[in-house]
Amino acid sequence: MTKILYVEDDLASQRLVQRILTAEGFEVALADNGLGAIEAARREKPDLILMDINISGLDGYEVTTRLRTLEGLREVPIIAVTAATLRGDRERALVAGCNGYIPKPIDVDRFGDQIRAYMVGLEDEVGTPEEKAEYLLEYNQRLVNRLEEKIRELENANAELQRVEKMKSDFVILAGHELRTPLTVIYGYLQILRSNPAIPGEEETEGSPRHLLSKVSDAVKRLSEVIQDILNVSLIDANRLDLSHEPVFIHSVIQSVLHNLRSFGPQRNLTLELGQGIKKAPVIEGDPRRLHQAIGNLISNSIKYTPDNGKVTIDAETLEDVVHIWIKDTGVGIPPQELIHIFERFYVLEDVALHRSSKTAFKGGGLGLGLVVSKGIIEAHNGKVWAESPGYDEEKFPGSTFHILLPIGNPFATTEEGGK
Ligand SMILES: Nc1ncnc2c1ncn2[C@@H]1O[C@H](COP(=O)(O)OP(=O)(O)OP(=O)(O)O)[C@@H](O)[C@H]1O
Ligand SMILES: [Mg+2]
Repeated sequence: MTKILYVEDDLASQRLVQRILTAEGFEVALADNGLGAIEAARREKPDLILMDINISGLDGYEVTTRLRTLEGLREVPIIAVTAATLRGDRERALVAGCNGYIPKPIDVDRFGDQIRAYMVGLEDEVGTPEEKAEYLLEYNQRLVNRLEEKIRELENANAELQRVEKMKSDFVILAGHELRTPLTVIYGYLQILRSNPAIPGEEETEGSPRHLLSKVSDAVKRLSEVIQDILNVSLIDANRLDLSHEPVFIHSVIQSVLHNLRSFGPQRNLTLELGQGIKKAPVIEGDPRRLHQAIGNLISNSIKYTPDNGKVTIDAETLEDVVHIWIKDTGVGIPPQELIHIFERFYVLEDVALHRSSKTAFKGGGLGLGLVVSKGIIEAHNGKVWAESPGYDEEKFPGSTFHILLPIGNPFATTEEGGK
């Protein structure tokens, strides 16, 4: 069956013409805007295209000009069907690449015949070559004007987006600071209370005042960490992460991470192995507290996403002027298509409905900010971080490996010379 693509944004016209065409024995495909029309033409490969001119996005002239550059659509008859019947509208349609022009309102009785005529090669003419040249020039100028207008709109929209984005990150940074201050006070007083011998009970005795205090203190600590993560992501986003420049002993950073994680959450039955390479890792320059956090997030993940009886191996090697650290686990693994996305903000693989927050519990999810923070910190040190995994499997546990590269020399030399 002969297929016609009808490009029209007015629903009433769409219905009317579709009915006539179907009655005439044509198959009809529809599109209602410029970009949609180009996609539909590519997809449907119609035998003829009826083009309304006043459509949103690219207009009918522009769509026609574009279609003429596409393989397989160069020869398809395109007929402008439009209410634009001022002087020159017909000519404009023709110089844009249309083969014919049918003014609206359409003549219902003649419509089928008109289309069949175009289908077998009828071509409308512009007039004299001089007239055609004049219309072409005018069409060109019009295109450039439209282009300018669109670029201006895009630039304005982009500036507005950036302004809103900055407002948002300023707000988050401010809110983070405001939340952190009282939390620090709460945490401090809690520690004073806990050190008071007058508080009855043992920490291990379920339900004793001392036990309750320690629970509150854990929760406050977790809350501060969440706020810290949110704050860090905002600082990374806003390019405002201030790093100190100090010698960093990778071995002690990793040991302190492990020490911290051990004091956290439920006891997990995992083997943690530190390879020989870690002890031999060179001293690098950077911000030890930030790197602690970056590496800590990766190790915390490898513990979280590995079931009991699994193993986490941390090792390092020196390659010329970088140190390569890797954290390998025997956990659930990561689907190949997600390996890049897990480093994006708020990205968590699990079903959010099943969410339970923890740093170390098996599959205890978080905000999905850990990897973003790690990546931001490592990249701020001019390093790289990426993940490898054969895939996700909750029965076979293929495991994942996270790799970090950190420059050994002064990692800030290039960025600072380049002026931030
Ligand atoms: N070692 C790993 N094994 C399997 N999946 C992982 C591993 N590390 C990260 N992922 C996946 O990547 C996602 C993003 O990790 P990320 O650390 O950013 O967030 P999170 O651990 O869910 O929360 P947060 O770190 O903010 O507490 C995780 O939800 C998890 O699905
Ligand atoms: Mg995490």
